[in-house]
Amino acid sequence: MNIILLGPPGAGKGTQAARLESSRGMIQLSTGDMLRQAVRDGTPVGLKAKAVMEAGELVSDAIVSALIGERLDAIGDKGAIFDGFPRTRAQAEALDLLLSERGRKLDHVIELQVNEDALVERITGRFSCASCGAPYHDAYKLPKLAGTCDVCGSHDFKRRPDDNEATVRTRMAEYRAKTAPILPYYEERGLVRHVDGMAPVDEVAAAIEAILTQ
Ligand code: AP5
Repeated sequence: MNIILLGPPGAGKGTQAARLESSRGMIQLSTGDMLRQAVRDGTPVGLKAKAVMEAGELVSDAIVSALIGERLDAIGDKGAIFDGFPRTRAQAEALDLLLSERGRKLDHVIELQVNEDALVERITGRFSCASCGAPYHDAYKLPKLAGTCDVCGSHDFKRRPDDNEATVRTRMAEYRAKTAPILPYYEERGLVRHVDGMAPVDEVAAAIEAILTQ
């Protein structure tokens, strides 16, 4: 099975993709994670992407489509969860080609519907363990022992450079202008399902599971 999780920054795409990896053995393909890794590694792609990401704008369609193609080749016959891709009509068309070239098809496009104002707090409050990546939030999920990761005991934490309010607003504007308009492309094919992304994480996961088991 191959699905797209669609929604603005902070809608919960990454959170739900991680759940699906655990529950269904599917593979999360997050272009945001791939680009951040490229930035950390200082690759040519990372050097091009860094400033664009820090401004909250979109990296070029050609770069992200190539990244997805490489990762699809690496996951064998496991199901794919596209997280943060596609983000433009050109990326949606590229994905169709990448899937058909590999004998795959798209099963569902799940739109996480959210209230954007609430998302700013969700995003600007989040941080993670610099060692194991465990996620935390200033308001909802602090480490049990202040300054110590619950999972690995590390004392180092990090925040994404694009998780400040000004950049989040730009990312949301990019979503409204370039990504939301691709929904009709999938609606015409009867692939789109809507889930309330403001519900608690477990309820969102249950709603997605209900769609996938239909
Ligand atoms: P990317 O990494 O894809 O970021 P994003 O789309 O802005 O999404 P986020 O990771 O911020 O949010 P999410 O929806 O995954 O939410 P999460 O689960 O973390 O992209 C970053 C940048 O890379 C882009 O701006 C662009 O520059 C570039 N880029 C990436 N892909 C690209 C592409 N295809 N084309 C061009 N450029 C590209 O949740 C957020 C927080 O909310 C967490 O703290 C979480 O714990 C909490 N939370 C989640 N669900 C709930 C819930 N139901 N209730 C309460 N809290 C919740």
